[in-house]
Amino acid sequence: MTRAISLHDVSKSYTRGVRVVDRLSLDIEPGEFLVLLGPSGCGKSTVLRMIAGLEEIDEGELLLDGEWANDLLPADRRMAMVFQNFALYPSMTGRDNIGFPLRIESPGADPRPRVDATARMLGIEDLLDRFPAQLSGGERQRVAMGRAIARHPTAFLMDEPLSNLDAKLRNHLRAEISGLTRKLGVTTVYVTHDQAEAMSLGDRVAVLRGGVLQQVGAPRSVYALPRNVFVAAFIGTPRINLLRGVVRAPLDGAMTISLGKQYLRLPEPLCLDHQLLRVQQGREVIVGLRSEAVRIAKPASARPGEVHITGLVEHVEFQGHEVLVHFNTGSRPAVVPDLEAPRPAVRPARRRRREGGTVLDRLRERAGALRAGPVVTLDDPADAGPDPTPPEGRLPGDLIVRTTPDFELRHGMHVPLLVDLAHLFVFDQHGDRICPAPARLPDLEE
Ligand SMILES: Nc1ncnc2c1ncn2[C@@H]1O[C@H](COP(=O)(O)OP(=O)(O)OP(=O)(O)O)[C@@H](O)[C@H]1O
Ligand SMILES: [Mg+2]
Repeated sequence: MTRAISLHDVSKSYTRGVRVVDRLSLDIEPGEFLVLLGPSGCGKSTVLRMIAGLEEIDEGELLLDGEWANDLLPADRRMAMVFQNFALYPSMTGRDNIGFPLRIESPGADPRPRVDATARMLGIEDLLDRFPAQLSGGERQRVAMGRAIARHPTAFLMDEPLSNLDAKLRNHLRAEISGLTRKLGVTTVYVTHDQAEAMSLGDRVAVLRGGVLQQVGAPRSVYALPRNVFVAAFIGTPRINLLRGVVRAPLDGAMTISLGKQYLRLPEPLCLDHQLLRVQQGREVIVGLRSEAVRIAKPASARPGEVHITGLVEHVEFQGHEVLVHFNTGSRPAVVPDLEAPRPAVRPARRRRREGGTVLDRLRERAGALRAGPVVTLDDPADAGPDPTPPEGRLPGDLIVRTTPDFELRHGMHVPLLVDLAHLFVFDQHGDRICPAPARLPDLEE
């Protein structure tokens, strides 16, 4: 048996007025593998613990197979949790660890057949008589998985189950977990802060920031159409290039996006998405270009939709099969707060409202865009002049381009670049994506 899990406007506060999960709504289908993704402290574990029944839900409702389940005892939910730290009983063998929950659930029954069947499925028969201290990290995690599976749960709730393991083992177990949960067909909610893990595992990925759901969708669609700058920057390696630009739409000339020292000339006739940018005339926007949207090539070899800029090589990162080149194009990067660091506490919604803000701000807040603070910072001291400090974690240079190792590039070279405008993202000052245009207007209903 597997379950549908629904959260409707679920909130949680540990401190009065500070919501660590803020009106979260999610519908998880039976048998679906959903990944909760977000930076440290964004509320992922709290959401999982509320689904498991280990944490009380303050507001909103949890439905299991359509039935109200806020107060259902954890044992009655029949879900299995797998944690980062494995949580095996040190004084029990692998067999007893796997069989323990079965003995609790049905004290009279012999757990052995189920333990053996589970061990066969996981290929851990020879580990059953060992104690946790005699197992490697990966083996311990397999036993922990066995303990979760043997109970035939209605859902798996996994909280960063692989983050204590080394990279190779993590990849291996990732594939194993994916195969196993699909074979069992059991609904799985998997928490991670590792976007690569989320993208490779999930049927859908739900991106959280500051307790607020930013976007939920298939990995491919979240990557291709991020709803805002935060999602765009959180998903994908290397991180998307985010440059501050200004839309120039003169009545009698070509429309461009100025990037400081250079500009992108939008090809004519303007496509619908670019036409819609006209209303931004004179405004500052954020241009998003993934590293594969730009290539090193002379202007003469431009294909339709490609425009020419130049870059100064700042740094070359050799990665074997490809090279990441960090260019300086004379533009200023946009800063996206909270990508890695725990964010500061959310201000209570009521107080924020009393402080004012425009009607538009309030509408946007209702649509969820502002609840966790702005997703982008444009009014930083860099306005005063060139910014000497690169944004978190990035090397100098404002544009990273992915290329083949064939080019002989050295620091200080001026290189021609072609930007493919079919892959151009534009975000407004609040960080919301405006190009490609959202398919529909945000839902303003509460
Ligand atoms: N029992 C608690 N009492 C008070 N605050 C808490 C408690 N548990 C969690 N928090 C706070 O709630 C917020 C969300 O915590 P949570 O553990 O859900 O984050 P997370 O996304 O799982 O982070 P991580 O990736 O670091 O595990 C954090 O700011 C955390 O400090
Ligand atoms: Mg956590």
